[in-house]
Amino acid sequence: MKNHHFKIEKLSLPFRKSQGIVTAKSPSNIALIKYWGKHHEQIPANPSISFTLNQCYSDTELSYQPRKNQGEKFSVRFLFSGKEQPEFIPKILNFFERILPYCRYLPNFDFTINTKNTFPHSSGIASSASSMSALALCLIQLEQKSRFLSDQQDPLQRASFLARLGSGSACRSIYPGLALWGAHESIKGSSDLYAIPYPYEVHKTFTNYRDTILLIDTGVKKISSSQGHVLMNQHPYARQRFDSVRKNFERFIIILKEGNLEAFGEMIEHEALSLHAMMICSQPYFLLMKPDTLHVIEKVRDFRAQTGKPVYFTLDAGANVHLLYPAEEKDAIKSFIEKELLKHCQQGQCIEDSCAYPVDYIRHKNK
Ligand code: PMV
Repeated sequence: MKNHHFKIEKLSLPFRKSQGIVTAKSPSNIALIKYWGKHHEQIPANPSISFTLNQCYSDTELSYQPRKNQGEKFSVRFLFSGKEQPEFIPKILNFFERILPYCRYLPNFDFTINTKNTFPHSSGIASSASSMSALALCLIQLEQKSRFLSDQQDPLQRASFLARLGSGSACRSIYPGLALWGAHESIKGSSDLYAIPYPYEVHKTFTNYRDTILLIDTGVKKISSSQGHVLMNQHPYARQRFDSVRKNFERFIIILKEGNLEAFGEMIEHEALSLHAMMICSQPYFLLMKPDTLHVIEKVRDFRAQTGKPVYFTLDAGANVHLLYPAEEKDAIKSFIEKELLKHCQQGQCIEDSCAYPVDYIRHKNK
């Protein structure tokens, strides 16, 4: 499918005059096979797959009314948790500029965005994923309310397409459970333009996984992921990484089907460490892991060796550690976290999240 499929060409008069409020909640996600490096307009250098979270989400309200004053190209007010936060506006304007060819109506409205997160922003928990996907879902609703979307257009696919232009990983947050973004020859329906729900069989254990996010450092990151992606353009090992990710996908499809927890864990840890290895070997290099990140990683390894419990870590572009494990191991892992890991977290904080598929979704998928 090509970009032009997503263009809305004409604006009807009633639509120009419409006003209203739309709302959307959209979660963050944690990549198992990571996206790092891009080209052109948010086209990923390699495919990625993630678990969509449940508790870490953005809750966004978008109000729109016919534009009163012309002047700047777009008219946007931005409130975060009810407070005016103009410093976020350049990011929104950048997003609007990118999606303008597909949403020609944007300059016709005065927009107010009021959003809140259930988790700290810029902490390595992908806040751009939840915020951009929530905003894209709001825009889709605005389009639906105005009966602007044709019945042929899949609204979730369009939301994913738009969200991708705000933040690559955001396009995966549109779907619950496992979501996949990036064209891969072995995965039917996969695309660089939007994410899809993972289309193959998933072992039962992966439909009810847990993610405890250990908040090692909740401060603002020194380097954004956009800057990190750019550094992959001149990276000495980028080609090797992109090739190996494509190969890893072939194995990952089998792992997800068979429910091999050890192979799953080895894969996600390898992915997390490769991502950070890329950062460490970039020129200039940057280090997002903190000493406590390393302490936690070592303790998780030791705990696994001693108990045989299938708990594995992954990392995003930040210092926090995501511990992934099957729901039935929750009690044993909880006491390990409380005894051994919380002391490495900022103010002993962690977030208990899950990547569980919604029950209805599984029923539907298994029909
Ligand atoms: O979507 P971005 O541009 O914030 O990049 C996200 C990159 C990682 O979170 C590190 C990996 C991923 O696939 O989510």
